[in-house]
Amino acid sequence: MADLDDLREGRDFGLEVAAGNQGYHVKGAAHLPWGMKDRLSRIFNPKTGRTVMLAFDHGFIMGPTSGLERIDLNIIPLIQYADCLMCTRGILQSVIPPDTNKPVCLRSDAGTTILTELNDNVLIDIEDAIRLNVSAMAVMLSIGDPDFEAKTIANLYKAVDLGSRYGIPVMGVTAVGKQMVRDARYFGLASRICAENGANIVKTYYCEGFEKVAAACPVPVVIAGGKKLPEKEALELCYKAVNDGASGVDMGRNVFQSASPAAMIQAIHAVVHDGLNPEQGYGLFNDLLNSD
Ligand code: R5P
Repeated sequence: MADLDDLREGRDFGLEVAAGNQGYHVKGAAHLPWGMKDRLSRIFNPKTGRTVMLAFDHGFIMGPTSGLERIDLNIIPLIQYADCLMCTRGILQSVIPPDTNKPVCLRSDAGTTILTELNDNVLIDIEDAIRLNVSAMAVMLSIGDPDFEAKTIANLYKAVDLGSRYGIPVMGVTAVGKQMVRDARYFGLASRICAENGANIVKTYYCEGFEKVAAACPVPVVIAGGKKLPEKEALELCYKAVNDGASGVDMGRNVFQSASPAAMIQAIHAVVHDGLNPEQGYGLFNDLLNSD
């Protein structure tokens, strides 16, 4: 048991030294078996090492929230622009056409409307994940929450054990525990705990000092977008995140609640994969919006 009484905060993150990829384009995955690498390569573009995941799993705790009232009308037209789809199995099998041929990062735990953002120690049956041919399973962690931290770490552990058995990567999703603040210290802690417990991908939030969060996490970090921002600010968020070490984004509301979701996801894609700066990305957004 580590001695937590004299916990010294990390100071040297080697920010001037890029993390080596050991011959495989996904961070921390060089030693994984073929099936894992095949699935990770479907999520992270082998040319850029990055991904634009489209998250539309919100209904599992929020119901028909704005922009997701009709997944068939709201989301299906966007699928062509996403590198990966993040959703629940209910939406996947009832609405998403099986011939879209996009990798799926399946929300594999459950939530409640009473304690939004906290899962209830439920995990999908791995056989269902295999039947659905998913490329990753997403499991939420509530680090710092006295009621949910242990349960959610146990859930991640179980998912990693099952995923390892069948070659399915696991994404640890960091929910913000009640007593924690959204800073680099907290996200660094939560992200590292995900990776240490075996997550192959970590989803967290951008914050000041994010470069330390990404540097200290031995697997790829993708950022959630959070609440809807003006489009230019959302593009700035993407730009700063990938320049500070994120391997991409897993965004929902900033896409499907945009004035033009199709223009927005294409602009995000250009910032993440093609190196457009926020001004260029916003210019592209406006061009696409006006050509609608
Ligand atoms: C995460 O657990 C949520 O269910 C969403 O997938 C996530 O928050 C990303 O969506 P947004 O960009 O809207 O925050």
